[in-house]
Amino acid sequence: MSQTQAWDTYSKQKPERRSTNAAGQSTWFNWTQYPDHGPGAEILGLSVGGAALDLGCGKGGNLAHLATLGAQAVGVDVSLAQIKAAGARWSDMQMALHRTEARCFLEETGDSYDAVFSVFGAVWFTDPALLLPAIRRRLRPGGVLAFSQRPPIEGCYGCQASYINRSEDEDPLVVKRWDYEPDRWAELLTEHGFSAATARVLPAPPGPRKVGTLLVRAHA
Ligand SMILES: C[S@@+](CC[C@H](N)C(=O)[O-])C[C@H]1O[C@@H](n2cnc3c(N)ncnc32)[C@H](O)[C@@H]1O
Repeated sequence: MSQTQAWDTYSKQKPERRSTNAAGQSTWFNWTQYPDHGPGAEILGLSVGGAALDLGCGKGGNLAHLATLGAQAVGVDVSLAQIKAAGARWSDMQMALHRTEARCFLEETGDSYDAVFSVFGAVWFTDPALLLPAIRRRLRPGGVLAFSQRPPIEGCYGCQASYINRSEDEDPLVVKRWDYEPDRWAELLTEHGFSAATARVLPAPPGPRKVGTLLVRAHA
């Protein structure tokens, strides 16, 4: 089973974003796994007309929000099901959507970006030794890379397995992800030529769930 098929399967299980958030907005940016929680698009430092690239855009909710703020919004996702869902949901938005693998896109495009971001997206599911140099080449000087994902499980670092469940009669599908502690992410970014790298775990909102969100940011 290929990575593409795994993510197409995930797409069928993942509900679309709500039509409005708790503040009554029809588009918004969410870095975390919790609704109405955490910082917003300001993390990207984009100006109106700035170019933003979402690696693993999924159903496109964050990218659509950037489009409403006046960004040139470009989304990449390896799953055709995800890209189709994004195109259908946000058909009235000015967004360029590409069904392709993130590193392939970065290596083939001649475009450059003011911000590259990934929310539980391709940056989590691609070897950073291969992806970070490819991102840096496509960021304009001073541009921002920001990404979020679950924090690592203590002691489980580097390449890990993520499972996408199917029916009881079928084995789960497996995709690879890369987990590191915040300090190691900051080091990795610095080693790959980024500057001002910061990485922190945002606490979960009050309630029964305790796992926070790792948020990483650096400049090209
Ligand atoms: C957990 S979902 C998150 C989607 C979206 N960013 C969101 O916040 O809802 C991960 C997404 O990354 C995409 N993805 C995973 N690996 C990728 C890769 N190497 N290149 C492009 N897309 C990838 C998957 O198809 C999926 O849509």
